[in-house]
Amino acid sequence: MVLVTGGAGYIGSHTCIELAQAGYDFVVYDNLCNSSQEALKRVEKITGKKISFIHGDIRDKEALQKVFDTYKIDSVIHFAGLKAVGESVENPLEYYDNNVYGTIALCEVMQKNNCKKIIFSSSATVYGNPKTTPIKENFPLSATNPYGRSKLFIEEILRDIFVSDNKYKIILLRYFNPVGAHKSGLIGEDPNGIPNNLMPFIAQVAVGKRKHLNVFGNDYNTVDGTGVRDYIHVVDLAKGHVQALKKIDALNDVLTVNLGTGKGYSVLEMAQAFQKVSGKKIAYKIASRRLGDIAKCYADPSYAKEVLDWKTVHTIDEMCEDIWRWQSMNPDGYNI
Ligand code: NAD
Ligand code: UD1
Repeated sequence: MVLVTGGAGYIGSHTCIELAQAGYDFVVYDNLCNSSQEALKRVEKITGKKISFIHGDIRDKEALQKVFDTYKIDSVIHFAGLKAVGESVENPLEYYDNNVYGTIALCEVMQKNNCKKIIFSSSATVYGNPKTTPIKENFPLSATNPYGRSKLFIEEILRDIFVSDNKYKIILLRYFNPVGAHKSGLIGEDPNGIPNNLMPFIAQVAVGKRKHLNVFGNDYNTVDGTGVRDYIHVVDLAKGHVQALKKIDALNDVLTVNLGTGKGYSVLEMAQAFQKVSGKKIAYKIASRRLGDIAKCYADPSYAKEVLDWKTVHTIDEMCEDIWRWQSMNPDGYNI
């Protein structure tokens, strides 16, 4: 049985579908601080399977112990965490408590129950401002904000746990920029308030919720001066977790893998792609650079192919089509 922390969230809910379809038994553990149980009801509708769900916080070791008492957990996919960069700068302690302490609490309960397999949601943010692209897993690591630093700390903590006991099987997945939604249009990304990330913002411009997109800088050294990122379809990303689970037993060291497409697209290229697919005009204004942003970030995904036998298949047009379907079918997200 797999424990999926944060499984009601954006990436977690898509991963639940892939796990169910691949025949895995799993239980979702989530405090719903940034998600809705409605997402899991929709996962049930899509898969035709009942999802076991426990409402709880990863920092609550007693509640976690009850989950281990109730289910025979042999591995954990650990999505639970806070992810807003700006918020982490304003409230670093909350981020270190939730993300770092939360992971320590989870690992303590795992250790107590002799559960030694964990797949962790890390991020390309751990590469800081990379000197060159594409980014390989052995590039230098750094962080410019508490969110990124929480990911770096957790990676180090998990590596130390492996050093202390090499029976652990640990996979650190560094996601690039997850976007898109399930083809059914039933689940997708449902940000609270004004979206921080590019694609949810563009989708809200298309649906008429926001007047225009602010393009954060057009003076970067890129194809058209706007920031370049590696956008990865969330379903490809979700399938990456299933592959990781398939490979985890054979590991004899901590495995660190980039999950990206290997292709970078600029802000204006993404806005154009979305406009083409949705038929809606994406009005934009050039604004100043966002503090902490970098010019270019995209993965070298070859290691993922080699070790996980995984690569992305979804195109940029499919990402936009799927976001648009989700956004138009659910203009208020899960707030129905
Ligand atoms: P999300 O906010 O949609 O999902 C996170 C889930 O964790 C939510 O359902 C939330 O309620 C839950 N959660 C948070 N703190 C918890 C706690 N203390 N106890 C129990 N549940 C808790 O975010 P997401 O986009 O699905 O991201 C999942 C993971 O992937 C996060 O760790 C995030 O940092 C990481 N990640 C996300 C991105 C991205 O762009 N979405 C990129 C790189 C890495
Ligand atoms: C952000 C986070 C990063 C996290 C990643 C994936 C910051 C500083 N970084 O990165 O830590 O790992 O999300 O969740 O928040 N853009 C606009 N207008 C907008 C929004 C974005 O022009 O309204 C531009 C950005 O400048 C960037 C690109 O679009 O060039 C992508 O932005 P975003 O979706 O926020 O992702 P990242 O900046 O890669």
